[in-house]
Amino acid sequence: MRVADAFREAYGTDPEGVWHAPGRVNLIGEHTDYNDGFVLPFAVPWGVTAAVSPRDDGVIRLASLQDGGRPRTLTGLDQATGWERYPAGVFWALGVTRGADIVIDGDVPKGAGLSSSAALELCVAIALNDLYALGHTPLELAKLSQKAENDFVGMPCGIMDQAASALSKEGHALFLDCRSLASRNIPLDLAAHGLTLLIINTGVHHELADGQYAKRRQDCENAAKRLGVPALRDVTDLAAALAQLSGDERKRVQHVVTENHRVEAVIGLLRAGAVLEIGAILNASHLSLRDQYEVSSPELDVAVESAIRGGARGARMTGGGFGGSAIALVAPEKAQAVREQTEAAYAARGWAAPTFLTATPAAGARRVI
Ligand code: GLA
Repeated sequence: MRVADAFREAYGTDPEGVWHAPGRVNLIGEHTDYNDGFVLPFAVPWGVTAAVSPRDDGVIRLASLQDGGRPRTLTGLDQATGWERYPAGVFWALGVTRGADIVIDGDVPKGAGLSSSAALELCVAIALNDLYALGHTPLELAKLSQKAENDFVGMPCGIMDQAASALSKEGHALFLDCRSLASRNIPLDLAAHGLTLLIINTGVHHELADGQYAKRRQDCENAAKRLGVPALRDVTDLAAALAQLSGDERKRVQHVVTENHRVEAVIGLLRAGAVLEIGAILNASHLSLRDQYEVSSPELDVAVESAIRGGARGARMTGGGFGGSAIALVAPEKAQAVREQTEAAYAARGWAAPTFLTATPAAGARRVI
C-alpha cells in the first residue's frame, strides 16, 4: 500500500496501522444540519488514508503525499499551518497529548465540495481512537471532529460531513436527525433502478463561501429567535412563520423548512422503491437553494440546467454551495448526453471544463490494516 510505503520511507519503520475515512456527497438536506434538521448524505469511494504509529513524547510528525510527502515535526499544536490544522485540531479535540507519526494520502478531488476536510479529520480521529484505546463510538468521533473544525480550525460547519464519514455503510445513504443524532442506513441501490449518480465538479470554489456560510447560519439563528423556537427545525406552520418575517430571514426559513420536508419525502419514496420520483425533489431543492437560500453559483446553475436538458431525472447543487459540485440522477445511457450538454454550456461561456465522477455509496471510516 502506497501510504504504508511512504511511512517506511519517511520514518524508517512500519506503521502500527492504516486507516481510511471517506468524503461524502449529499443526496438531499442542504443547510439543514445546523438547523437541527434532516440530512441524507452518503460516503463516496474517495477519501483519506493514513498510516499512523503512536509516540510517547508529545511530538507529532506529519507528512502528506499531496503536499510533497516530507514530514514536518510539530512540538506544539499551534505550529500547525494549512491542512495540518485539521489533524492538529483532532489531537486537540480528542485530548491526545502523546503525539504520533502520521503519513496521509488522499484522493478526494480538490475543490469538489466532497468533504476532504471531514475525511481527514475522521481518518486521524479513528486512528488515534484505536491506537490509544480511547473507546469513542463512531458518532462521538464525528462530534469531536466537528468540534475540531469549529473551535480549532474555525469553520462553523454542522455535523453532516463528519457523521457521513463516520457512520456510512456501503450501498446505503445515511439518514441523520441532526438534533437527536439518531441515524439510519437506508439502502440505496441506484443501479437496480436503472440510475446512476453523476457528480459534476465545477472546479470552482468562490472565496466568499466561508463568510457567506457563517452569515447563513446567523440568518437562521436570528429567524429562530424572532419566531420563538429553539431551531428552525421546530417551525411547524410555515405560512404563519413567513408572515412574521421579511427579507433574508424570510427566504432562509422558506428554504430550511421545505428542505426538511423534501428529505422526508425522499426517504418515503426510497422506502416505497419509487427511486425515479426523487428526481423532481432534487430539482425543487436546487431552486430553493438558488432563490431562497442564495448559495448557488452560475457554474452550479448551468451544471444543473444542462444536466436536466441532457435527460437527467433531477439535479441540484450539493454541499455548502458557491462552487463545488452538482449531482445529477441519470440513467446510465443518458450520462454521456448530460456530460456533453454541460461541457458545451461551459465552453460557450468560456469556462474551464467541469469534471465528472460517478459515485456509489461507500463504507464509512475504518481500519484497513
Ligand atoms: C458544508 C458543511 C455542512 C453542511 C453543508 C450544507 O458542507 O460542512 O455541515 O452545513 O455545508 O448542507
